[in-house]
Amino acid sequence: MKVAVIGTGNVAQALINGLISEGYDVKVGSRNSGKDSENITKLKEAHSNVSITSYVKAVEFGDIVVLPIPGASLVDVIQEIGVQKFEGKILWDITNAFSADAPANGVIKLITTPDESLAEKVQKLLPSTHVVKAMNTVGAHLMYKPVFGENGTIFLAGNDGYAKERISEIAKKFGWESYDAGKIESSRALEYMGQLYVAQGILYNGWSSTFKYVK
Ligand SMILES: NC(=O)c1ccc[n+]([C@@H]2O[C@H](COP(=O)([O-])OP(=O)(O)OC[C@H]3O[C@@H](n4cnc5c(N)ncnc54)[C@H](OP(=O)(O)O)[C@@H]3O)[C@@H](O)[C@H]2O)c1
Repeated sequence: MKVAVIGTGNVAQALINGLISEGYDVKVGSRNSGKDSENITKLKEAHSNVSITSYVKAVEFGDIVVLPIPGASLVDVIQEIGVQKFEGKILWDITNAFSADAPANGVIKLITTPDESLAEKVQKLLPSTHVVKAMNTVGAHLMYKPVFGENGTIFLAGNDGYAKERISEIAKKFGWESYDAGKIESSRALEYMGQLYVAQGILYNGWSSTFKYVK
């Protein structure tokens, strides 16, 4: 499948590495596509043939579009690209809805309310797009082939079963178990799990830990 990765930061680099290593056809979108920014130089060092273009062209290319960009910019960036460009596609939402305020005892404030997650906001903005929230609950350095005593769980939330299966496939290829946590409303809980993951990192240096769903 063709995957567009929008942005070139920490999460983007991890995803691009994993997706290319697993044989996905990847196009990267960057605001700096014409320049050699630090991130682009790093990317080219790791994958010399990586295809880097504008946000719009990358979105046009992808069957799956993942936007590892600041959560606070997500809606604006989608609107700048153009909502119609996302029609019929799978939007893999990996963002966290963190505010820029200082954390309180490790807990970062969210820019959302308990009754509407960022993923729900995006789904409302893009009714003809299949939004799947997934992998916002793990650190970038853990995303591809993490080494744990046992497999951790990637939780998925979204309204479309086919779309969730495609992201679940990626999660499994990346070395994770996956768990279908429900429709898009379940992304509310996943965004709080992202907050909890970071709090464990700040409080206990638990950056290399993860969540596992057991039955
Ligand atoms: N870091 C983690 O461990 C982790 C884990 C799970 C989820 N997340 C979430 O994943 C998203 C990306 O995190 P990250 O750590 O990869 O961030 P990052 O290193 O700061 O990279 C963000 C990228 O987003 C693009 N971008 C677009 N609009 C931007 C803006 N207004 N300001 C800054 N960058 C902008 C930039 O790419 P171009 O300049 O190339 O366009 C930039 O490199 C966030 O929502 C974060 O909460 C992060």
